[in-house]
Amino acid sequence: MVVARDYISFSKVREKLKGSVGFVPTMGALHEGHLSLIRRAKEENDYVIVSIFVNPTQFLEGEDLDKYPKKEEADKKICQLAGVDLLYLPTVEQIYEEDELLISAPKIRGYILEGAKRPGHFDGMLQVVMKLLNITQANRAYFGKKDAQQLLLIEQMVRNYFMNIEIVPCEIVRDSDGLALSSRNVYLSSSERKRALSISRSLKRGVKLVQSGEYRVDVIKEAMKSILEKDVDCLDYIAIVNREFKLLKDIEEGNTIVLIAAWVGDTRLIDNLWL
Ligand code: PAJ
Repeated sequence: MVVARDYISFSKVREKLKGSVGFVPTMGALHEGHLSLIRRAKEENDYVIVSIFVNPTQFLEGEDLDKYPKKEEADKKICQLAGVDLLYLPTVEQIYEEDELLISAPKIRGYILEGAKRPGHFDGMLQVVMKLLNITQANRAYFGKKDAQQLLLIEQMVRNYFMNIEIVPCEIVRDSDGLALSSRNVYLSSSERKRALSISRSLKRGVKLVQSGEYRVDVIKEAMKSILEKDVDCLDYIAIVNREFKLLKDIEEGNTIVLIAAWVGDTRLIDNLWL
């Protein structure tokens, strides 16, 4: 595995990769969720590139940019063992200049749910993903459904800008107790972690209701809320949307995403299920 920290040395190695390239962008503190993307990229391509970059422009004022977990040595080992060919670890200066040309998230889909709670977050996310896709020149890029709105906005950017890359959505990886893996789970104390399980429990309850024939979104949301209320400290939203991120009144089977964002202690967690 080659580790590159600047664009020139990255490009020199990239040029030599003749064959299909799969790319997995991350912010590090790698876990099994990231690894599942890397493994899939490995299966489907001749070469795999991973980037680790804690992108400042997607963090809002007062968010956890400074305390975001950093585990460079462990991450390198994980990538090496997973058979990554090229690991890109750029600095902020390598990626950004002053007075940048900016990319804006779409006004509706980019400013509801996560975008409403974190206005501007998706502008910064799309900006860095555009850069990383251009730098890596991969054939396929792998993203988790865990960040559902992020994934759909990246698909839209690729569509709207006619970018020549295939976006591959990957399933959510969970711990055996149901908690969706996230780099932010390390912030949780053991009692907070127990309370955080109400999020996946609530999602499962929602799915059960649908399976039993309940399609009314209001009814499903109420049932989900009653599970969450006792355990989370603040519920940012429960939402049931279609793939265009329009809020639904009734479940559209095969086209529905049920999403939760909630605070447990000082940690903000998101999770979702695709129906
Ligand atoms: P990060 O949170 O590090 O996540 C990197 C990728 O791993 C994303 O595509 C995310 O959806 C996926 N992922 C995280 N947890 C997962 C899980 N439990 N199961 C499956 N996939 C999971 O998302 C970002 O970084 C950044 O916004 C980034 C796209 C790198 C741009 O800065």
